[in-house]
Amino acid sequence: MTPNPEMKSIRWRDTHVAYGTVTRCLHWTMAGLIGWQFLGMGLRLILGRTPLVSFFVGTHQNVGTLLFLLIVLRIVWALINRRNRPTYAPGMAGRAARAGHLMLYLALAVVPAAALVRAYGSDRGFSPFGVEIFSAQQPPLAWMVTLGNALHGEIAWGMAVLILGHVVMVGVHQRMWRDATLDRMAGNRLRGAANPQTETHEE
Ligand code: HEM
Ligand code: HEM
Repeated sequence: MTPNPEMKSIRWRDTHVAYGTVTRCLHWTMAGLIGWQFLGMGLRLILGRTPLVSFFVGTHQNVGTLLFLLIVLRIVWALINRRNRPTYAPGMAGRAARAGHLMLYLALAVVPAAALVRAYGSDRGFSPFGVEIFSAQQPPLAWMVTLGNALHGEIAWGMAVLILGHVVMVGVHQRMWRDATLDRMAGNRLRGAANPQTETHEE
């Protein structure tokens, strides 16, 4: 296969061969912060109220609000780059990967949004990083609180399952199919030349 000129260096924007620096920064920063959220809430589930759990719980709303802002940026960036991102494989595998990524985006937006709707309707006010963005509602807006209670935790755990599936599939690409899919999001882009999914195509 002839080397692709798009692969000589990592670009800040995405190309058909690999995700660029901005997408990679968003992907890995958000992966770390989401891991933090699940670690805290997982410990709370297992250990109950301990000083360690209180520490994690104390950061949850701030980190969650940050994640909400990052997903808005990420969606805008994905739309700007939609014509020059790595392509999906033809057939079922490619369709499944696209659907999985879309579901991740949806969950990434709905989970913090549901918590923010609940915070807006609550009688406690909401001040992430000490800055008041919602004042307390008197009386609380019951439908918003009910909606947030119904959606936030449930969809968050559903998203954890999706993420697990995502990581397992990256492992399958690496170990079984050996198509260097990980190179699109991390590491050495030259190995990505072996990946049939990274063929360029004319728009
Ligand atoms: C992507 C960002 C977020 C993730 C992954 C996440 C994840 C979670 C998880 C897994 C739980 C445990 C649910 C349970 O025990 O069944 C939880 C609870 C909670 N989260 Fe978040 N969260 C995020 C953003 C936020 C934001 C932005 C806020 C505040 C505005 C927030 C406020 C809360 C509160 C108050 C609880 C405890 C009540 C409940 O279980 O719903 N979270 N979150
Ligand atoms: C919270 C955890 C994670 C979330 C929410 C997430 C989400 C996503 C999404 C939405 C994409 C599509 C590209 C984009 O628009 O950014 C993607 C791509 C990718 N992710 Fe993740 N990811 C997570 C963790 C991981 C981890 C731990 C790995 C490594 C094992 C990984 C490896 C990849 C790779 C290799 C791609 C490119 C796949 C392709 O081009 O088909 N991700 N991820």
